[in-house]
Amino acid sequence: MKGRFIVFEGIDGAGKSTQIEKLRQKLVNEGRRVFITAEPTASVTGGILRDALSGNYARTASELAAMFLSDRVFHNVNPNTGIKQALEKGFDVVSDRYYYSSFAYQGLDSDINWVIDMNLNCPDIRKPDLCIFLDLDADKSKERIDTNRATVEIFEHSSLLDKIRRKFFDVFSMLKDENIEIIDASGTVDEVALKIAAAVDKLPKEE
Ligand code: TYD
Repeated sequence: MKGRFIVFEGIDGAGKSTQIEKLRQKLVNEGRRVFITAEPTASVTGGILRDALSGNYARTASELAAMFLSDRVFHNVNPNTGIKQALEKGFDVVSDRYYYSSFAYQGLDSDINWVIDMNLNCPDIRKPDLCIFLDLDADKSKERIDTNRATVEIFEHSSLLDKIRRKFFDVFSMLKDENIEIIDASGTVDEVALKIAAAVDKLPKEE
């Protein structure tokens, strides 16, 4: 049995971590094995990215796009922690962010077509079976960030979050061959989890 590759996207504060955990429980209850992963990864490049995201070291959008690309190749092919090996072992892989984030976040200040092309044309970057976009307006996201976090990252400001949210929608209208489900994330945790479960249930169980 081959696993399914599911990606969660959304602006910061949309509730990805909570919903990823809910989906993990649902899939495990159905007897599936689940591998949870995230970007940036624990690679060396991932560390440099986290430093840039915290605002410690300023990077241009193109530098960030190139580093996220490199980190994403690592994320796919690493023989111990990578997406490819987990899918081949039959795990459902659930990733907190993937290339859609590069398109929306780096697409704002770099060349979006360049960012899209280098990701979609890279032979070692796999296309997800499903992208779940948790949609929450920027003010509500910012409220959640301020309640839940001690430190604020470079993108976590309300006006910027609104621009990024709109960029995600531009990106989705440009991508014709991707399976993207936009889910209203303003309800309760259980309401949102039910909608996600319905989207995941549409995926084939075996490949
Ligand atoms: P996030 O999921 O918010 O991690 P955490 O909540 O643990 O800090 O991701 C970190 C940030 O990285 C987020 O602001 C979005 C940004 N990002 C990009 O700008 N480009 C990308 O390609 C990815 C994967 C993330």
